[in-house]
Amino acid sequence: MILLDGKQTADHIKREIAAQVESIVANGGKRPHLAAILVGDDGASQTYVANKEKACAQVGFKSTVFRFPSDTAEDFLLGKIDYLNHDDDVDGFIVQLPLPKHINEQNIINAISPDKDVDGFHPINVGKMVLGLPSFVSATPYGIMALLEHYNIETKGKHCVVLGRSNIVGRPIANLLSQKGNVGDCTVTVCHSRTVDIASYTLQADIIIAAIGVPQFLKEDMVTEGAVVIDVGITRVPADTKSGFKLAGDVDFDRVAPKCSYITPVPGGVGPMTIISLLKNTLQAASHHAI
Ligand code: GUN
Repeated sequence: MILLDGKQTADHIKREIAAQVESIVANGGKRPHLAAILVGDDGASQTYVANKEKACAQVGFKSTVFRFPSDTAEDFLLGKIDYLNHDDDVDGFIVQLPLPKHINEQNIINAISPDKDVDGFHPINVGKMVLGLPSFVSATPYGIMALLEHYNIETKGKHCVVLGRSNIVGRPIANLLSQKGNVGDCTVTVCHSRTVDIASYTLQADIIIAAIGVPQFLKEDMVTEGAVVIDVGITRVPADTKSGFKLAGDVDFDRVAPKCSYITPVPGGVGPMTIISLLKNTLQAASHHAI
C-alpha cells in the first residue's frame, strides 16, 4: 500500500508556483491577487479561508479577505461581487460556502465574473469543463486529478466509482475522469444517497472516490484487493484535542488501507491539493489579466 501524500505533493507544487511568481515580479509583472468573501462565523469556513490566506503568503500572492456578519443582505453581497468583478487589482476571488440560509447561493455564484471565478463554480466554467474546453476547474476535483497524475496512477480503462453527487466534488470529478486524456478515460459510476446496494458497485471499482461526508462510510468489505481509494471527507468530529474536534474521512482508513494499492490519508491527502488548485487557478487568472 502506498500513501498518496497530498501534503508533500502540494508543497512540491507550491515551490513551483512560488518560483513562477518571483519570475513574474522580477520581470515587472503584478503579484497575483486572490480575494475571498467570508460571511458569518462558521468555524470550518473560517479555517479554510485562513488556510487559503496562508497558502497565498507562502507562494507570494497578495490576498484579501472580506468578512461580513451572518445577517448580511444578499443585495449587499451582490454589490461587493460587482465591485470585485471590476477591481483590476484582483485577479480572482471566491465566496466561501456555505452561505447563511437567507442568501441564495446560486444567485451569488452567477454574479461572479467567469474570468475571476477561480473556484470554477460559475455555470459558464462548469459548462466549459463538461465540454472539455479550457476553464477554471473547481479546486477539489482539480486537486484529485493532480494527485493521480503526480503518482502516475493508471486511469485509462479503469472503473471508477464516485460516492456522492455534489456540484463541488462528485459531479465534476465523475465528468473529468470520464473525459479523454492522460488522467481520464475511466468508466465512471456515480453512487449517491438513493443508490441501492452501494457495496455492489464499490466491489467492482478499480478506483473509489469517497465524497459523501459520512465519516468512515467505506468499509473493508466494500473494497477489493488493490483498489485506489481517494478520501474527500473532512467531517469535524468531537475529539480530545486542543480544538475539541478532529477531521474524519469517509473511509475506515485503518481497515481499508491494507487492501489498497494507493490510499489518501485524512488529513494530509486531498485537502492540501485543494488549496494548491485554487492557487493554480489564480495564477492562470492573473496570466490572462496580464495580456
Ligand atoms: N466550501 C467548501 N469547499 C469550498 C470551496 O472549494 N470553495 C468555496 N468557495 N467554498 C467551499
